[in-house]
Amino acid sequence: MRQTNRRIVLAARPVGEPKPSDFRLEEVPIPEPGPGQLLLRTLWLSLDPYMRGRMSDAKSYAKPVEIGEVMTGGTVSEVVRSHDPTFAPGDIVLGMTGWQEYAVAEAGGLRKLDPSAAPVSTALGVLGMPGMTAYTGLLNIGQPKPGETLVVAAAAGPVGSLVGQIGKMKGCRVVGIAGGAEKCRYLLDELGFDAAIDHRAPDFPERLREACTKGIDIYFENVGGAVWDAVFPLLNEFARIPVCGLIANYNMTELPPGPDRTPQLFRAILTKRLTLRGFIVWDFAAQTKEFVTEVGQWLREGRIKYREDIVEGLENAPDAFIGLLKGRNFGKLLVRVAS
Ligand SMILES: NC(=O)c1ccc[n+]([C@@H]2O[C@H](COP(=O)([O-])OP(=O)(O)OC[C@H]3O[C@@H](n4cnc5c(N)ncnc54)[C@H](OP(=O)(O)O)[C@@H]3O)[C@@H](O)[C@H]2O)c1
Repeated sequence: MRQTNRRIVLAARPVGEPKPSDFRLEEVPIPEPGPGQLLLRTLWLSLDPYMRGRMSDAKSYAKPVEIGEVMTGGTVSEVVRSHDPTFAPGDIVLGMTGWQEYAVAEAGGLRKLDPSAAPVSTALGVLGMPGMTAYTGLLNIGQPKPGETLVVAAAAGPVGSLVGQIGKMKGCRVVGIAGGAEKCRYLLDELGFDAAIDHRAPDFPERLREACTKGIDIYFENVGGAVWDAVFPLLNEFARIPVCGLIANYNMTELPPGPDRTPQLFRAILTKRLTLRGFIVWDFAAQTKEFVTEVGQWLREGRIKYREDIVEGLENAPDAFIGLLKGRNFGKLLVRVAS
């Protein structure tokens, strides 16, 4: 066992795109668990777009990471020492212990995983927070019906890929938007989407229009920006728009130039009777059991697929995270911190 703990802390609040110097790798003594606590060794660290929000001190739904504090993050870890009777050394647990190799955690904040049920890394992806986001956002807000057209952005990622696959199961025509030919091919060939459109193509709005001849009934919003601009004119009456993420805006330092289009948006909301509803996954926490049971079942039956993008070593987390905000990842982005 390593004698010290390596961890990555927030060194500075990014202005625009995060850069390597906004993070700092530190080596500190391994912490000692107190009564009721556990010492954990991180196996997997999840990298997610929401972390960009935590690096900023703008008011949001969650408190920011402080300067000098360990970067927040979901983890799968092995119990090294336990001062709680419900956990034993060797148990594998899901927690929020952040960007570090070892952590002390309260037993109450951990969930024991069963490695025989599914690969434990899936607890951070298809069977974890991103999967739950897709499942609850689409079913509660999107309310898919057979024959409807569902468009999903960031479609090759963990949220978007599950949204599209559930949409197919519910009988929708599914159009995915992703960056680049390889991701688009994956949506068509592996996930069975009906169409896949590259948002980087110069004629992206026209291609989207051609793929949505009957307009759009559900738009699962993960991106905002130019993708929203192309989707907006295609929305049908009574379209539902689960507003899940706006990754195109996360590094924005000021409002984009141009005319104020709020009146146009409100006019469409009124005349087309649109439903736009923002949500945070934990709004639907009461559905966790239903999600794990149903999606776990689909996974075992081979009805849904998932893809992981694995980065080796904690020290590579900042670069991988910077890449996530630019679409460099292909699938659920995970750091293998230890085997
Ligand atoms: N509301 C919630 O509770 C909740 C929970 C989880 C996630 N989310 C949100 O859901 C979205 C997807 O999350 P995820 O974990 O599945 O991430 P992800 O798809 O693995 O990664 C984000 C993807 O966004 C795309 N992207 C980045 N900048 C873009 C831009 N300017 N225009 C178009 N696409 C861009 C990139 O894919 P391409 O290469 O395809 O462009 C990138 O790979 C994010 O907005 C995230 O914040 C919300």
